[in-house]
Amino acid sequence: MSSVHDHNRRAWDERALAAKRFARPARDEDLADPLSLLDARGWLGDVAGKELLCLAAGGGRQSAQYAAAGASVTVVDLSPEMLALDRQVAAERGLCIRCVEASMDDLGALPAAAFDIVIQPVSTCYVASIAAVYWQVARVTKVGGVYVSQHKQPASLQAATAPSPRGYELVEPYYRSGPLPAVQGSLHREEGTLEFLHRWEEIIGALCRAGFVVEDLAEPMHADPNAAPGTFAHRSLYVAPYVRIKARRVDETAAADESRKLWTP
Ligand SMILES: C[S@@+](CC[C@H](N)C(=O)[O-])C[C@H]1O[C@@H](n2cnc3c(N)ncnc32)[C@H](O)[C@@H]1O
Repeated sequence: MSSVHDHNRRAWDERALAAKRFARPARDEDLADPLSLLDARGWLGDVAGKELLCLAAGGGRQSAQYAAAGASVTVVDLSPEMLALDRQVAAERGLCIRCVEASMDDLGALPAAAFDIVIQPVSTCYVASIAAVYWQVARVTKVGGVYVSQHKQPASLQAATAPSPRGYELVEPYYRSGPLPAVQGSLHREEGTLEFLHRWEEIIGALCRAGFVVEDLAEPMHADPNAAPGTFAHRSLYVAPYVRIKARRVDETAAADESRKLWTP
């Protein structure tokens, strides 16, 4: 495992121990009608009885919600302390949640074609290669299975944290390598972690090349026209922070045929 993985494991362990944002287990109100919160667009349908992987989703929130909705849940995370929150909530609520400590770009601990549904909250920013994650997800997803993933939009990782008289200026190049410089005091980044910008070709193109077709795409709304300049809601008026993608695992032969058609002159 790389130094980036080690760094981010430590960072998320610390965030879990300090109960920071994204490291807080499900509350009663999160479990009352979980699918209305998790799947407002109805991309997943009824999850009851489905094999569902919560990828890079430790923290005791999504795993508990999907388990409460009747899914057979496996949660994978790099951080043992984030997974400790999943174990804690499972014990407190009497839910069955399998916890696997692994990196999203090495899912060798999981069997092939095991999952009907894979959900991944914002987390691909913590690895250098998003394509490596997609190939791993393709291996563990059944043909016909659904993969819903959320990502940081590249423009949001390029734009300044604070406003200038001209809005939020692009201060990071689109074509870049290595982790992004640290920023402080902004909700569009997680302090202490190492994060990477992925270009649209990597976010969408690599997904298709790994054997998925994109069925839908949403930009979760965080903008508020009345928000004070410099707040997350104000910045989100100018630059959408996240994208959510619904993709389906297709037969590899069919996917290869489709991509050949696209490349035939
Ligand atoms: C923003 S949190 C998402 C989960 C959170 N429960 C939520 O409320 O959305 C990002 C998660 O990614 C995990 N993570 C970071 N790098 C990872 C990696 N390489 N493989 C698996 N998980 C990773 C972190 O430990 C953290 O739990």
